[in-house]
Amino acid sequence: MNTAPLNTGLYCALDFDNEADARAIVERIKPINPKFKIGLELFCKIGPSFVRELVSEGCDMFLDLKCYDIPNTVAGALRAVGSLGASYTNIHISGGEQMARAAIDALKESSNGKTKLLGVTVLTSMGQIVAGTSVEEDVLRKAKLAHSWGLDGVVCSARELEIIRKELGPEFETMVPGIRPAGESAGDQARIATPQEAVCLGATNLVIGRPITKSPDPKATTQAILESMC
Ligand code: C5P
Repeated sequence: MNTAPLNTGLYCALDFDNEADARAIVERIKPINPKFKIGLELFCKIGPSFVRELVSEGCDMFLDLKCYDIPNTVAGALRAVGSLGASYTNIHISGGEQMARAAIDALKESSNGKTKLLGVTVLTSMGQIVAGTSVEEDVLRKAKLAHSWGLDGVVCSARELEIIRKELGPEFETMVPGIRPAGESAGDQARIATPQEAVCLGATNLVIGRPITKSPDPKATTQAILESMC
């Protein structure tokens, strides 16, 4: 069954160690898909001003900071993040309820409700966790916690989409990395799916990095992926 919501989005992960390479990819891809994900590497290099600049140019940003600390510290970080104008940022669900609730309150206030907060379940680079629990069970357990605490959605792999949709409904958002077009190398990702599979399973948004950024023609690759998602 195709459970896809309309218009699954595609965030291109800008995993670069320098500004010039990041800007070159943004310039090529922005005209056809102005959605980008910035993680710790680039954020530590060129920081908040780059996020603000892209937002002011009309880009839709996912700030992938994966916050995980005591509630007071995470709330402080998210108060700072809220003014940047990103559409999404995230915390680790393992940080617990107090941390999550402090994060939600801080972000809601500082972003005026503009930035959605997602919870990281189990990294898509992990194929197994502690003995006695399957990854799917652990992801679902964490997704249910995130939902009950009031997070907007979760980061998970395509493999858990069906069960999350079934248990938590169509409004709870899913941001899905570990995406590889057919025939691409998995690299360090363990729980992978093609863009089409993830869309059909109901992903709200996909995150794709290296298949685009290492492609000889990133714009054509992005275009092909977008077409395959329709
Ligand atoms: O290059 P690739 O497509 O594997 O990039 C995936 C991106 O998604 C990376 O930036 C990675 O940090 C991010 N991500 C992930 N797994 C998560 C959360 C984020 O791979 N659970």
